[in-house]
Amino acid sequence: MLAQCGEGCQKVNVVKRRASLCDLHTRVSSATVRSMKSYRVVLIPGDGIGPEVTEAVKQILAAAEAPVEWVQHEAGLTALAHGKDVLPVETLEAIREHHIAIKGPCTTPVGKGFSSINVQLRKKLNLYAAVRPVRSLDGVPTRFSNVDLVIVRENTEGLYSGIENEVTAGVVTSMKVATETACTRIARWAFHYAQQRQRRKVTVFHKANIMKLTDGMFIRCAEQVHEKEFAAFPYQELIIDAGCMKMVQDPTQFDVLLLENLYGDVVSDLCAGFVGGLGVVPGANIGDQDAVFEAVHGSAPDIAGKGIANPLALLMSAVMMLNYLGDTRGDEVCEQVAKRIKTGYDRALADGQKTRDLGGSLGTAEFASAVIARLRG
Ligand code: NAI
Repeated sequence: MLAQCGEGCQKVNVVKRRASLCDLHTRVSSATVRSMKSYRVVLIPGDGIGPEVTEAVKQILAAAEAPVEWVQHEAGLTALAHGKDVLPVETLEAIREHHIAIKGPCTTPVGKGFSSINVQLRKKLNLYAAVRPVRSLDGVPTRFSNVDLVIVRENTEGLYSGIENEVTAGVVTSMKVATETACTRIARWAFHYAQQRQRRKVTVFHKANIMKLTDGMFIRCAEQVHEKEFAAFPYQELIIDAGCMKMVQDPTQFDVLLLENLYGDVVSDLCAGFVGGLGVVPGANIGDQDAVFEAVHGSAPDIAGKGIANPLALLMSAVMMLNYLGDTRGDEVCEQVAKRIKTGYDRALADGQKTRDLGGSLGTAEFASAVIARLRG
């Protein structure tokens, strides 16, 4: 039986190897299995609840003996407060050097001020694929069970191009950009991911009935990639309004969702609602060179500094990161550690150890301790 996402994934072509790893995992204690290598990972705590949840994640990864060495850098309001740019050059350079980062959320002013650091980072590093697994969790009862979706969001263009103009007083425009290169690239990434992980289907949500050129290009590129490279793989197109209606009726009918930038952003939070909220949905921004792992949620200014934020979404993102290291560097220890951490938080939730957003009473640090206590045995 294959698990189905980057957070708990097993890829088809490595099933055999991972099966033997599981055997190994039961026989050898964690203390005796150490990676030969340690990976330098850029850590950006970010703003709001960012520093609280990143601290919890650091502690859990240390307790699980994850072979990572943190290279801490700033971004967001925190960088600004220290007299730097919101996205300092040294932060970008560090990611380019080490190729991998984990990032807390960064605040973006609403309706004014600087443009989103997150969008800048994704564009500057060409992290074109946002992948966000959304799955039901034991111990987190919600309206639907057995939700197991993966959102693949185009991360570099669409309405996030940031090209806005005041045509004349009282008239403003925002430009939606679609390029054949980016649309084809993300479609190929989604089909490849879906096929490799034995997913059931790829569904594109679009509004090509209205945006005939931009969304028209998005679906045409998806159709072409499907037809030429993945013809046997189940594929579906839905106009996004009808798609959202079907989704809230029964999210289990969907599997991998392929969306342009804005739709992917909105649908990610919608899907988070199916499984317990933003505290439990991780994410990765992946390019051909670099990858930045971050939760779907923002800096949550309403609860920042109170020690009550749920660190699970960032912890799940860290598990995705370890699995990514395992996949791309062929390091089985990273995969073992990822599995150990996932077992730890699954057990904690099943034992009713939850933060307030999930109906529990634990604070951020208490939840981290509950996971650490369940890493072994
Ligand atoms: P948000 O995701 O920060 O918060 C929405 C709601 O979910 C709030 O009630 C918050 O308390 C709750 N929530 C979020 N994460 C939680 C967690 N880990 N544990 C418990 N509760 C949690 O979205 P909002 O309020 O729209 O945005 C706040 C700021 O974050 C804005 O400046 C926005 O631009 C930024 N943002 C940054 C992102 C990033 O860095 N990747 C992503 C989304 C928003």
